[in-house]
Amino acid sequence: MFRLTALLTAAVVFLSVLSAQQSQTTQKPSSPYAAIPVDAAKQPNPVKSTPESLARAKKWWTIDCAMCHGANGDGKGELAKDMKIQIADFTNPDSLKDRTDGEIFYLIKNGYQDMPPEGARVKTEENWDLVNYVRSLAKPKANAEQSGQSSKN
Ligand code: HEC
Repeated sequence: MFRLTALLTAAVVFLSVLSAQQSQTTQKPSSPYAAIPVDAAKQPNPVKSTPESLARAKKWWTIDCAMCHGANGDGKGELAKDMKIQIADFTNPDSLKDRTDGEIFYLIKNGYQDMPPEGARVKTEENWDLVNYVRSLAKPKANAEQSGQSSKN
């Protein structure tokens, strides 16, 4: 009986330490854009990546994105250099491989880290065009390591 009580006490102490730690982390002022809602992440892309969609997106990319992400998406735009911010290289297919289209849509619409939200500047359809555009910047890898993979991507 004594052992059980000791065990339970230990468990209670352990749990309260855990929850204290948790409330500490939630108190930290976190970015409002840090978490992408699951529903938003799962949202399928209703706009096909056609030449028309990419052409519509290019207009916005040039005005709103290229100064940070670079015209070709390598993350080396002038403003990014001025702000000394590190931006992923979208010409590398690995950069966005773990993102769903819904997540990319959400990040463009709501902003992310040092990136301002596109918000209402673009229509919903144009925001999806931008998702297609960002994906289209990835250059296929020439090395052998990729050649075994399905070519469906
Ligand atoms: C002020 C500079 C700035 C502008 C303008 C900007 N971005 Fe970003 N963007 C960033 C930064 C900083 C990040 C976060 C760092 C990273 O992900 O590499 C980011 C991240 C992203 C990501 C997510 C990458 C990831 O980590 O999954 C996408 C997609 C993206 N930007 C697309 C766009 C598009 C499309 C536009 C134009 C509508 C745009 N950005 C405009 C700075 C900018």
